Amino acid sequence: SAAEKGGHDYFMLKEIEEQPEALENTLRGHFSGGGIVLDEQRMTEQDLRDIDKVFVVACGTAYHSGLLAKYAIEHWCRIPVEVELASEFRYRDPVLGRDTLVVAISQSGETADTLEAVRHARTQRARVLAICNTNGAQIPRESDAVLYTHAGPEIGVAATKTFLAQITANYLVGLALAQARGTKYSDEVAREFEELAAMPQAVRQTLSTVDQVRTLGRELADSKAVLFLGRHVGYPVALEGALKLKELAYMHAEGFAAGELKHGPIALIEDRLPVVVVMPSAKGRALLHSKMLSNIREIQARGARTIVIAEEGDEAVRPFADELIEIPAVATLLQPLVSTVPLQVLAAEIARARGYDVDKPRNLAKSVTVE
Ligand code: G6P
Repeated sequence: SAAEKGGHDYFMLKEIEEQPEALENTLRGHFSGGGIVLDEQRMTEQDLRDIDKVFVVACGTAYHSGLLAKYAIEHWCRIPVEVELASEFRYRDPVLGRDTLVVAISQSGETADTLEAVRHARTQRARVLAICNTNGAQIPRESDAVLYTHAGPEIGVAATKTFLAQITANYLVGLALAQARGTKYSDEVAREFEELAAMPQAVRQTLSTVDQVRTLGRELADSKAVLFLGRHVGYPVALEGALKLKELAYMHAEGFAAGELKHGPIALIEDRLPVVVVMPSAKGRALLHSKMLSNIREIQARGARTIVIAEEGDEAVRPFADELIEIPAVATLLQPLVSTVPLQVLAAEIARARGYDVDKPRNLAKSVTVE
């Protein structure tokens, strides 16, 4: 009923709007006694300190959150991180040992490929840390440490609030590792946590774009395809934006690293093709920002319809944006928590305008328990 959906046409929009609260719940209680605490921890501080390699394994949207974990963990901890689709990891004979940490990310905690990746890692004596939204699910039960995302139940088959919660949880894990290894002092960890703690409010602010994006979604409903471009942490966001559109609107969509434009994707640009661009901050990432400006110029010159997600006050990008969606300025690594929101709304609204069931897309299941 409409009441269950909080007055919305579909659960997904309700869940998109619940994201600020979901993040508050993900963060609650995880900074205590001057440091980051996990929910369950069967590893010693020494075990954590000894970790010299991290693998992140996941499927679907959770995998995209894992791509972001790499940016944060390598930057904060100086430990090499590889991110792999769970279905590829296990069959590849990855190099694992006692000092390897495998971070398994799964909303349901029951995804067959991710579970089997965890089991494989454990047979190789690697440590496993689960990030999960479902208390007591199989993946956390078989892991050495657990961080629950506490985002609440998600009805929409395509993940929304659990994605933002997974990103947040990944960053908490990064801070926990940095703290154990001493690559970040406790005052720095506290400061990073403060920045995370400000994100629910930033996401709330981003929700003011919902009406604008819904209108845009209706305009784009007849498009044949949509491309998504991003750089640095904007790249996984572009992948996630494209996945959402495929899942919900059954539309051809692809996400690219903007730096790859000249190596192929630019050949796809044709008149009026919508291209969504996730802009890095002009202040925080000036170099990437200027590279992205020239990318937008190139695609616009070839007739693309540019839809630009950019930080408020980014005047330089305005002339190149056929549609400008403004998000609040936040720390570089945290931008995905706000830039993803309009992409979720866009996919849902295009799907609705095409007459599809946003909450139950064809052929997809909320949790995939067979390989
Ligand atoms: C399915 C869902 C996706 C989800 C993926 C991984 O494909 O439709 O939304 O991202 O499974 O699920 P998990 O529960 O492991 O996060």
